[in-house]
Amino acid sequence: MSIKVADQILVIATRNRGKSSEIREMLADFPILVKDLNDFGPIPQPVEDGETFDENAYKKASFTAKVLGLPALADDSGLSVDALDGAPGVYSARYAGPKATDAENNTKLLAALSGQTNRKARFCCVLSLAVPAGAALTYEASCEGEILDAPRGTNGFGYDPLFLYPPMGKTFAEMSMGQKLSVSHRGLALRELKGEFEKVLQWLQYRQAEENTRRGADEICMGNK
Ligand code: IMP
Repeated sequence: MSIKVADQILVIATRNRGKSSEIREMLADFPILVKDLNDFGPIPQPVEDGETFDENAYKKASFTAKVLGLPALADDSGLSVDALDGAPGVYSARYAGPKATDAENNTKLLAALSGQTNRKARFCCVLSLAVPAGAALTYEASCEGEILDAPRGTNGFGYDPLFLYPPMGKTFAEMSMGQKLSVSHRGLALRELKGEFEKVLQWLQYRQAEENTRRGADEICMGNK
């Protein structure tokens, strides 16, 4: 089957510019037009009340795809700290409160780990790619590291300045975006998606054709009433 991709739009279901620029960087050589929610006006937001990264990723992707009528890629990700029984986990973005800043979340994390010698942690990422009718593909990955007792570096976002990646002796905030993506949870999950990109495009087109057929059938039925 030949693939026509010139007009294939993919919406990244986030307003987080840190996440969005990492995903855009990884998708840069794909023959598709990548947008994120900052390219659209105000649109309703899904309630992120899932208990797992998978649930929340699917909620964000399927909700956005349905609202915009376009394929959407959502990332749900977060930090799990062993000494905190996996917290902040799915609450990573709002660890210090519903409108918490990255600095507030980092301060709360350092306080929670004060005096703690077990600093093991991992970042997890689930990517969900959904079409307006709801079907989705899923990719996931994680990255092991340690939480420092003071921030280091100014790049990146979120918990990057506290997350040491031992094999490189650097925090994520001390790495270039390319270095971070070569080892990070998000970079690894995106690499999986990229690895089967031809298949992904075919899947998107097949689902779009199904949707067009369904709409056509609905219109004929309405016309017959
Ligand atoms: P989400 O938007 O609900 O998926 O929230 C993800 C949150 O996890 C972000 O707001 C960050 O606090 C944290 N997080 C996820 N990925 C990263 C990363 O690559 N670096 C630093 N923090 C991250």
